[in-house]
Amino acid sequence: MSPIPVILDCDPGVDDAIAFLLAKQLPQLNVLAITSVAGNVSLEHTNYNALGLLEFLDWDIPVYRGAAGPVFRKRVEAAEVHGSNGMAGYDLPHARSEVEGVNAWDAIHQYALEQQGALEIIAIGPLTNLALAFLKFPDLPQLIKRIVIMGGSSDAGNATPAAEFNIYADPEAADIVFCSGVPVHMCGLDMTMKALMTPDELNQVAALGSKQAVFFRDVVQDIVRFMSRLGITGINMHDPAAVLYAADDSIFTAYPAGIRVETKGTITQGKTVTDLFSDAKWQKNGFVAMDIDREAFVEKVFELMSKY
Ligand code: BDR
Ligand code: CA
Repeated sequence: MSPIPVILDCDPGVDDAIAFLLAKQLPQLNVLAITSVAGNVSLEHTNYNALGLLEFLDWDIPVYRGAAGPVFRKRVEAAEVHGSNGMAGYDLPHARSEVEGVNAWDAIHQYALEQQGALEIIAIGPLTNLALAFLKFPDLPQLIKRIVIMGGSSDAGNATPAAEFNIYADPEAADIVFCSGVPVHMCGLDMTMKALMTPDELNQVAALGSKQAVFFRDVVQDIVRFMSRLGITGINMHDPAAVLYAADDSIFTAYPAGIRVETKGTITQGKTVTDLFSDAKWQKNGFVAMDIDREAFVEKVFELMSKY
């Protein structure tokens, strides 16, 4: 089977960085381009980090500048988790790279036209770029095959008790994406909280010896310390799990679901209201990933990181 043509829409971000490391080595994916968005940190930092990551990985694909903030709201960020530059203080190489002269939503439409219905989007940040693309190009839903997101939760949130960070950062954009008509596969906290790597496993990755493997372990250490204060030993691989799901969903359990986003509630805004079995029987606009085979996930990570 030929690899899936994808755009990786992201806000790097420490776990976005790990997603880059894995995406480059996944034979099932042909990553055509990166689109950046403000999220974990400002757009200035997410652009800079995306470019730096590609250079660090010697990966020659374009980066398109996305939205500097949400559609209707004030920007929120997660610098307390990812560090003030989004990369836990790491300053990656920047000898040759620059963002393209086309913005993210125009680029998404252009690639979608070129791929004639085969393009998939993996979105691991707030969904602002995609929403703007859908608002600007009415033909876009017919041109995109599938959207896999890291975001949301059918249950508890992490940014607030109700909302996961990527959805909370731009709830209106997320709802536009869920209502776009393109099937959305929601890799949210239900599943990604189980995609845990322990400190021992991180050390074993580093022991593979490549600079990428050592970076993998070192860049997540601040988050490991952050999580330990919440009583979690290790790091939840949110964005990497979504990328692996997009490549091969065989180690995941997902169910068809109707999903909308709460945009009005005072304490529930950003909640992904997920209909799995209610009497309301919402139209199924996507899938919600509920489980992952953690051991198989960790094995996959080792397999991919051994390629460096
Ligand atoms: C998501 O929010 C960000 O902080 C991470 O990069 C991930 O995409 C987890 O809630
Ligand atoms: Ca992210």
